[in-house]
Amino acid sequence: MIEPSDQQLIDAAIAAGQNAYMPYSNYRVGAALLTASGDVYGGCNIESVSFTPTVCAERTALFKAVSEGQRDFSAIAVVTRDAGSPCGVCRQMLYEFAPDMRVILADLDGKAHLVTTLRALLPHGFGPENLDDGKS
Ligand code: THU
Repeated sequence: MIEPSDQQLIDAAIAAGQNAYMPYSNYRVGAALLTASGDVYGGCNIESVSFTPTVCAERTALFKAVSEGQRDFSAIAVVTRDAGSPCGVCRQMLYEFAPDMRVILADLDGKAHLVTTLRALLPHGFGPENLDDGKS
């Protein structure tokens, strides 16, 4: 169920998406990542003419936050024209830090289409605990 704070996060994701650099796909993505302490980090997709180096909005937001010392996340809102779902690479990268975070997928009008969790988007995920016991 959508919560009031989800709507604020959607608005932040729409704002972040204004900076999207997407001349090749014309597919604008904005993300807003909420930390456990209440800070919000925005991100947009940034494309490359060489295609492969392109980075998604979700990872832009995550890398900004982690590079500023953040480790705990409670939610992410992702906004696209069709309320598209995060790619597999972004799911994996977000799972590293917050497998139980809320994931809110919304369209460019700010309408939430899906509120779920990262664990639901990446069931049986491979996470840091898999490398914990030090055995080969
Ligand atoms: N994109 C994202 O930013 N996030 C996703 O999870 C899916 C895809 C971007 C990458 C590229 O710039 C454009 O959307 C089309 O794939």
